[in-house]
Amino acid sequence: MNIANKLPQPSVPSLADRQVDTAKPPFLGFGLGLRAQHYDEILGGNPPIDWFEVISENYMLPGGQPLRVLDRIRERYPVVMHGVSLSIASTAPPHFEYLQALRELAKRVEPKWISDHLCWTGVHGKNLHDLLPIPYTRESLDHVISRVQLVQDYLGRAIVLENVSTYVQFNNSEMTEWEFLSELSHRSGCWLLFDVNNVYVSAFNHGYDPRTFLEGIPADRVVQFHMAGHSHMGTHIIDTHDHPVCEDVWDLYIAALKRFGRVSTMIERDDNIPPLDELIVEVNRTREIAAQVLPEVLPKALPQSLPQLGRQELGRQELGRQAG
Ligand SMILES: [Fe+2]
Repeated sequence: MNIANKLPQPSVPSLADRQVDTAKPPFLGFGLGLRAQHYDEILGGNPPIDWFEVISENYMLPGGQPLRVLDRIRERYPVVMHGVSLSIASTAPPHFEYLQALRELAKRVEPKWISDHLCWTGVHGKNLHDLLPIPYTRESLDHVISRVQLVQDYLGRAIVLENVSTYVQFNNSEMTEWEFLSELSHRSGCWLLFDVNNVYVSAFNHGYDPRTFLEGIPADRVVQFHMAGHSHMGTHIIDTHDHPVCEDVWDLYIAALKRFGRVSTMIERDDNIPPLDELIVEVNRTREIAAQVLPEVLPKALPQSLPQLGRQELGRQELGRQAG
């Protein structure tokens, strides 16, 4: 059953006719996920980070200390909002209280963009607090497109959706994840957040080449990269965000830069959170690698520490090209 067909749709305007800001989000540079452990250090020291991504739900209650801190940080840095509870693929009725709170927060924060995940997180009013996978069928594609359009109409702007890490696949899928994301982006107008680590994790868990995923995503629809660490269990990988980014994911980042060009990039760390300086080292590495891979568009961010760069993709030929 396609729930989208059950939703009231008196007339469905084309993408061009909708009152939605479809402008491509700007390139912000190299950022970090804002975490409460670093509030004081950020406000006290203005660290060299280009922008911050905030978890929307942490700031959706009116008032309180987190929101006051965010007000001060957004005066100094560009901010984007990243949600974990939109549940865009759910077949439950749209959660308008959530959407209203999201819209109110966006009015206050004025984020450069608003993102969430291609997943569902619960039904019947229950939030399972996990990013659950969906079958990649034509029916679910139509459904998600209708939900994205509803959300975009409500927010008045195109949203950004991220690929999630997955541990199971559906036998009834009719297309690959990258085909689904491509079609979703083209037909709904949403932009894509390409989580490099999630692609690596899912590719390992399901036994395909992560570069096949990468090559299947349209280059002009990706507006953000996530970089994160994971836990390798031998037989499978769990997307824990509690380690530094591993070398294989750095290599995939280089391949992503070659395919997608200059894309706003950030480090995601959600557990075992280290001092800010350690995360700034990783942010600097994203900046340095991008400057090496794309010297023509990032000429001023030349790397300072070549030995830290990705071990496979940046061969002598690349370094020679950049030096010349
Ligand atoms: Fe992510």
